[in-house]
Amino acid sequence: MTKKWWHDKVAYQIYPKSFFDSNGDGIGDLPGIISKLDYLQELGVDILWLSPCYQSPLADQGYDISDYYKIDPRFGTMEDMDCLIAEARKRGMYILMDLVVNHCSDEHLWFQKARQDPEGPYGNFFYLTDKVEGKLPTNWRSYFGGSVWEDLPGTGKQYLHVFHKKQPDLNWENPQVREEIYKNICWWLDKGLGGFRLDAIINIKKALPMRDYEPDREDGLCSMETMLKEASGIGQFLGEMRDRTFRKYDVFTVGEVFNEKPEEIPDFIGENGYFSSMFDFNETIFGASEKGWYASRHITPEEYRRCCFDAQARVGTMGFLSNIIENHDEPRGVSRYIPEGDCCPESKKMLAGLNFLLRGIPFIYQGQELGMENVPFTSIDEIDDISTLDEYRTAREAGLSEEEALKAVAFYSRDNARTPMQWSGNAHAGFTTGTPWLRVNPNYTTIHAAAQMKDPDSVRSFYKQLIALRKSPEYKETIVYGTLEPVWEEQPNLMAYYRKGERTLLVMGNFQRERRSVVIPGGYKKVLLNNYKELGEEGEKLSLNGYQFLVLEV
Ligand code: GLC
Ligand code: CA
Repeated sequence: MTKKWWHDKVAYQIYPKSFFDSNGDGIGDLPGIISKLDYLQELGVDILWLSPCYQSPLADQGYDISDYYKIDPRFGTMEDMDCLIAEARKRGMYILMDLVVNHCSDEHLWFQKARQDPEGPYGNFFYLTDKVEGKLPTNWRSYFGGSVWEDLPGTGKQYLHVFHKKQPDLNWENPQVREEIYKNICWWLDKGLGGFRLDAIINIKKALPMRDYEPDREDGLCSMETMLKEASGIGQFLGEMRDRTFRKYDVFTVGEVFNEKPEEIPDFIGENGYFSSMFDFNETIFGASEKGWYASRHITPEEYRRCCFDAQARVGTMGFLSNIIENHDEPRGVSRYIPEGDCCPESKKMLAGLNFLLRGIPFIYQGQELGMENVPFTSIDEIDDISTLDEYRTAREAGLSEEEALKAVAFYSRDNARTPMQWSGNAHAGFTTGTPWLRVNPNYTTIHAAAQMKDPDSVRSFYKQLIALRKSPEYKETIVYGTLEPVWEEQPNLMAYYRKGERTLLVMGNFQRERRSVVIPGGYKKVLLNNYKELGEEGEKLSLNGYQFLVLEV
């Protein structure tokens, strides 16, 4: 395998709106990010993925772009962006932008022109159809609820939006659309970006001709996944995009890919793949119900282990997955994967370690390094996220009481991850001197960066140790390139695996509050990491505390 500059890196996701506000308007911004680069460098991360900060009406928090060549004034200016790229470079860090090209905003000039003249060249930038009264073109359900079809005002036509109605899908079948996209990608890469995260990319290829599928809910609509299963030929678009853009630059790209077919993995992330890497969402999607969030099943520690190992086995050494425990679309990983009532610094460190040392590129989402938790929402009025509001409606329609519906959707709400970063114990967690656009998590008084930076036993300090271990000259090769072999899979609530390369490491987490003992076959040479001060040893046996996590060299 050819070695690439990004193989041994650690990535960090920034959600600009909630990271740090430099001017007191309650909205995080680019100068805010620049002022925190030293914080990030001290943590040890190298690649910074920024959720969108392009010009946008923020109908879906920036994932609805109205100008791909502009920075939204709420986030700053293009000079700020150039400065961020340069300041990051000075510190050996790389900036990834979010590439949102399945759709744009309905406020993009292309869409405005399509609306003025649907038969003109811009009409073909989107999926437009003639409206037939009383009949939808297809019965596909948008990811954010309701039909994917919306009237194009004043035209007698309808347009397709697989996300929000303010996010019209771009017609990738039209070569002019693709040209515009490639031009924009290269324009950004010429600025010296480290690469892109590719948003919702699996949606760019629709199954054509479009048709209805079997409805899966009482609304008579079908999930987008049903259509996507039938769509073939995405590789032509992705391969072309790679050749026309990324390949010409030595950049890192990571795809937001759900439901890939196993045989597609080499095409996606193999040596010559469309992307450098793609996220492992196996744990994220586990337990999801086609009925909606209210009917989803919470994952158990054993299922978590199974999901991680299955994904690892599918990819093997064919490429590099990007491993996450959370992102801006998901609840906080510690609240989701650690059994209820057991969230504590030890269990948070265990989860961090188990995920971080999997084979692949580790991604840390802002605040994850502090062990930030889900928000104790007490009313649906506290929720901003359009997806949560839709899921709440669905839950109510299915007969859940207000209280039950809130409880169900609060667990999965995207707002859990979107509350402001907890910098300090001061007002609004030190995120802003004004009023934050989204309320801070009330636990900021105890969970915040300032305290954790001083405390060698904090969750953040543990993340630093994990990062340092991954980068240490002795263990780097093993952690980056070594294989992964699960062990003790028959044991309940014990997640353990070998990483085998130049050296052999045994990574283990006692995923329960009860103690247990394990026998290390052949003993061990050295303890590299331990989330407790002590390690119980009785002869051959190691006795592990609840949620104890160890990395041993064996
Ligand atoms: C991706 C983004 C999500 C957004 C959606 C539409 O899933 O991560 O935040 O809502 O795409 O762009
Ligand atoms: Ca601001």
